[in-house]
Amino acid sequence: RQNERESLLIMLEFAKEFFKKQLLDSEEGRSIALPYFKERGFSDATIQAFDLGYSPEGWDVFLKTALKQGFSQEIIERAGLVTNKNDEGKVYDRFRNRVIFPIHSVAGKVIAFGARILKSDAKNQAKYLNSPETEVYHKSAVLYGIAQAKNEIRQKDVCYLVEGYTDVISLHQAGIKNVVASSGTSLTIEQIKLIARFTNHVTVLYDGDSAGIKAALRGMDLILEEGLQVNLVVFPEGQDPDSYVRSIGSEAFIEYIQKEARDVISFQANLFMKEAGDDPFKKAELIKEMVQSISKIPDAIQRSLFIQKTSQMMRLEEDVLLAEMNKIHLKKM
Ligand code: CTP
Ligand code: MN
Ligand code: MN
Ligand code: MN
Ligand code: MN
Repeated sequence: RQNERESLLIMLEFAKEFFKKQLLDSEEGRSIALPYFKERGFSDATIQAFDLGYSPEGWDVFLKTALKQGFSQEIIERAGLVTNKNDEGKVYDRFRNRVIFPIHSVAGKVIAFGARILKSDAKNQAKYLNSPETEVYHKSAVLYGIAQAKNEIRQKDVCYLVEGYTDVISLHQAGIKNVVASSGTSLTIEQIKLIARFTNHVTVLYDGDSAGIKAALRGMDLILEEGLQVNLVVFPEGQDPDSYVRSIGSEAFIEYIQKEARDVISFQANLFMKEAGDDPFKKAELIKEMVQSISKIPDAIQRSLFIQKTSQMMRLEEDVLLAEMNKIHLKKM
């Protein structure tokens, strides 16, 4: 098994180098893929730091190169680099005509790839394609950027959590290096445990759209449950950390984060007040949801302080909130 892992990692390393070469040394890469990254503002140093690459057009440019190099079709398949086997056992390159974002393990080994179409949005193609699950890639346990971020997360004692590859890369280039991405999937306990190896403070920086806010609230409950401290920053509608840091610069971005970071309860209180107005039925529903969130916190003192805070913000007796929380705890048992 150790050997199998090792040979997959060698295969993936070869693929990474192939994609890098295609980006930097091929006519095709230099004329369409490199300009794409440049237009997004990525510097040469950034392209190097994240091992960015390009998968050329054509059905089997990579497959042929890897076979010629002596890799077996079987291992190319097991690494998730080809797709769609038909009856005759014919496969073709999974990634074609896309810019490539290698995904690294904590230790910095390439374990998978994300791949983006070059146009800003194409009609009938997924914007991103990702490697399938393999023996070395378990999507739910991986955070994009962790290898590049881990030391800085430990040093700053806070981890910024974003949605996308390009959010990680742009923030990193702006000097904000304690950042990782959940890569669009909903956050998992394994991912939170990975963060917890380096810090117990998380600030969630999800996209400023309703999908982003919903995902953030769901993720934050899970982070609380794991006993980590979590804050949330919401960006102006239509902005994500990548677009926002590029539009206002890194200093203003850091100020924005410091000014706008809210704990779960304050954030929900604000959101809910807007939604509920002064309808007592609605307000009751929303307060119950807040108590739900608080009940997830393992630490009793923190729980009690959040109850206090909720009581003040929502103008409701602490006793009522505590009774509601006890009901939740009873249900859990
Ligand atoms: N994602 C994915 N498959 C998709 C869409 C998104 O895997 N079809 C993941 C990617 O990891 C992506 C993240 O979800 O980085 C966030 O999605 P989105 O906000 O739509 O993309 P951005 O990262 O903002 O990418 P870009 O700026 O290039 O549009
Ligand atoms: Mn701490
Ligand atoms: Mn989004
Ligand atoms: Mn984006
Ligand atoms: Mn985005």
